[in-house]
Amino acid sequence: VTSVLFDRIGELATGDPASGEGPLGLRDDAALVVEDGEVVWVGDAADAPAADERVDVDGRSVLPGFVDSHAHLVFAGDRRRDFLARATGRGYEAGGIRTTVAATRDASDDELRANARRLVDELHAQGVTTFETKSGYGLTTEHEARSLRIARELTDETTYLGAHVVPEEFAGDVDGYVELVVGDMLTACAPLARWVDVFVEDGAFDADRARAILAAGVAAGLAPRVHANQLGHGPGVQLGCEVGAASVDHCTFLSDADVDALAGSGTVATLLPGVDFSTRMPYPDARRLIDAGATVALATDCNPGSSFTTSLPFCIALAVREYGMTPSEAVAAATSGGAAALRRTDVGHLTPGARGDVIVLAGTSHVDLAYRPGVPSVAGTWLGGRRWRSAAPQLPE
Ligand code: NIG
Ligand code: FE
Repeated sequence: VTSVLFDRIGELATGDPASGEGPLGLRDDAALVVEDGEVVWVGDAADAPAADERVDVDGRSVLPGFVDSHAHLVFAGDRRRDFLARATGRGYEAGGIRTTVAATRDASDDELRANARRLVDELHAQGVTTFETKSGYGLTTEHEARSLRIARELTDETTYLGAHVVPEEFAGDVDGYVELVVGDMLTACAPLARWVDVFVEDGAFDADRARAILAAGVAAGLAPRVHANQLGHGPGVQLGCEVGAASVDHCTFLSDADVDALAGSGTVATLLPGVDFSTRMPYPDARRLIDAGATVALATDCNPGSSFTTSLPFCIALAVREYGMTPSEAVAAATSGGAAALRRTDVGHLTPGARGDVIVLAGTSHVDLAYRPGVPSVAGTWLGGRRWRSAAPQLPE
């Protein structure tokens, strides 16, 4: 048995509004015990029980690890050139994905694995303890399945995104490609994935094709999620709500009907501030969603084209400044919101029974994540009660 006591916590976010103040369920002068990977006790520091190991937090803020419900970590190459072009006025185009598809197909398994592992290291360093990742840069049966095999080495939350864009070799034959996506490719990928996703957008897949792809995924045992309303108003959000998607992601352009659909459904609205930032899009108004009663999540969408960041603290800062969220709403969206977007009840909170995924902030308040943007804000990350240490190569002395 190994138990860890986090002692002298200045501010503990239980993640359970019933266990404390505000959307984060905050309590002061707290302590927390993780045993065999699970939270077993939360209470006042004055009543803290003994444990095998004691971490003296010395008044810092302690949060549940961030849950990043949307990322694309398996890819090769970069899109620095596209990013530079945007700085001089060019727009983001969905077709840029094909550049990464070509590089990914050319890469060895080990290159893809090493690249993804580096990004996972960055995620943990910045407080992410659960993350989702997708295929979508292979776009052949062999390459999609390969991406998912590598993804599965990293996380259980893997998503089949064969319907990311139509690859070059199917140009002019969208229906031929969809046939593959719902046919052999799905057969090869379904055993390796939990979720099925479609990029619903002009330049990617329309609503009817997306509906068919999601239905085929569901028939193969996958649960749906959708990339929707990123580049303009479109049918993606309504479609996601209609099919009972766990989450519709991006939601940069929302009509009143979209907001109503989200508020009236169990589908989470996942906002991706890194995308709006990096692609120079308008920032959606999260207040509209929250005030209507929708559940909001924040995720990095880490990918080389539209959001090459692994930092949820950066996303939280943007959400506070640009989406109109309060710091506690934004942190809740990056923890319990992300958990809801992945339909997980074991993460995103720190109450007895939760996984012992804990982050200790550098400062005494979660507000610092927005108030001190760009400053390293996570002092330590614990995965299932074990301190995470970076495996990344360091600069030699
Ligand atoms: O979530 N929108 C579609 N897919 C990714 C972008 C992928 C890329 O540009 O490589 C996204 O933003
Ligand atoms: Fe994405």
